[in-house]
This record gives sequence, C-alpha cells and structure tokens, in this order.
Amino acid sequence: MAEAERIVARLGFAKSCLREVGRLLRAAAASKPRGTIAESGTGAGVGAAWLDSGLGGGARLVTVERDEGLARRAAGIFVGDDRVSVLHGDWRLLERHAPFDVFFCDGGGKRDDAERVVSLLAPGGVLVMDDFTPSADWPPRFEGEADALRFFCLTHPALAATEVLTTPLTSAIVATRRS
Ligand SMILES: C[S@@+](CC[C@H](N)C(=O)[O-])C[C@H]1O[C@@H](n2cnc3c(N)ncnc32)[C@H](O)[C@@H]1O
Repeated sequence: MAEAERIVARLGFAKSCLREVGRLLRAAAASKPRGTIAESGTGAGVGAAWLDSGLGGGARLVTVERDEGLARRAAGIFVGDDRVSVLHGDWRLLERHAPFDVFFCDGGGKRDDAERVVSLLAPGGVLVMDDFTPSADWPPRFEGEADALRFFCLTHPALAATEVLTTPLTSAIVATRRS
C-alpha cells in the first residue's frame, strides 16, 4: 500500500479506493487462496495493493488500466511479484483471464457492460463495486434518478448481492455468483 499511496500523493490521483474499501478487497481476496482475482481500472495501484495484501500463495491478481502512465507506475509496485500482472489497455483484456473468483470492477465494465461482468465470474465468485451513495429508496436512487447499476446487481438472478456501507456516506455492492 505504501508505494501505491506515495504514487497517489505524487500524482494527486484522487480516485483511489478508500481504506474501508481496501479492507473489503483484502478480505475478498483472502477468501479465495487459490483464486484468480481481477480488477478493472488499476488507477495508481491502491486497490491492487489491497487485493495483493490478501492474496494467497496459490492465487494470482490481474489488473488493467487504460491510462498508460498509470499502468506503468502501478506495474512498478509489483515488480518481483509474479502472482501480479498489470495490463495496459481496455478492461476487456481481462476476459482472457476469466473466470474470476474475485472481481473488483472499478473502471470499465460496470457502466458499459455489467452483464458481461457477471458472466466473467466463476461460480461462487465475488463481485465488488464501490463508489455508491447510500439510498433509502427502492429502487435505489442517486441525485433523484433511479440507480440502474445498483438495481441491476441487487436483482440479478445469477447473483446473491447486498449493499454494504463502507463509510456513513459511501457504499459498495458485494455479490456472489450463484453456482
Ligand atoms: C476509480 S479509478 C481506479 C481506482 C483503483 N481501482 C483503486 O482502487 O485504487 C478508475 C480507473 O479506471 C480506469 N478506466 C476507466 N475506464 C477504463 C476501461 N474501459 N478500461 C481500463 N481502465 C479504465 C481509469 O483510467 C481510472 O484510472
């Protein structure tokens, strides 16, 4: 985490996951000690570093970032750790590494092809999406509009999903693909 957070500070990258989300990612990764763990949208590598901190000896992490500079810097964090691959390009590059036992879908996929995201999960695979704002409404709303992505995840027949508070003002979807 330390190296990723140094990069964040140097670049002023403001989109890294919160520590509360990071702990959730670490717990999810640790639940699949021989799993394939994926992340779309590496950013500066903070989420990847949290996933890595839960990675079992038999597990691997593949993360993809479309911004070349970010991908290169993040790759530098994991030099020497052959369980971790940082790819540069569109999130769909992940497809060749599927199915995923954990998928932190954070950049690419969630807004453009959520159905494809679900199809990339292994049976029992865990999907995490963060950056939601808690809503007391059903269906959930954001800024007065129905939140289609949250509704999609929470009602998808192939998923057992819930929304958890990560802070009093933020939430995440955690979903398991049914066998
Ligand atoms: C919220 S930030 C990622 C933060 C990171 N996951 C973390 O937890 O520290 C989203 C990232 O997704 C990247 N991104 C957006 N669309 C993408 C796509 N289609 N393919 C790959 N990366 C994408 C953006 O460049 C940005 O760096």
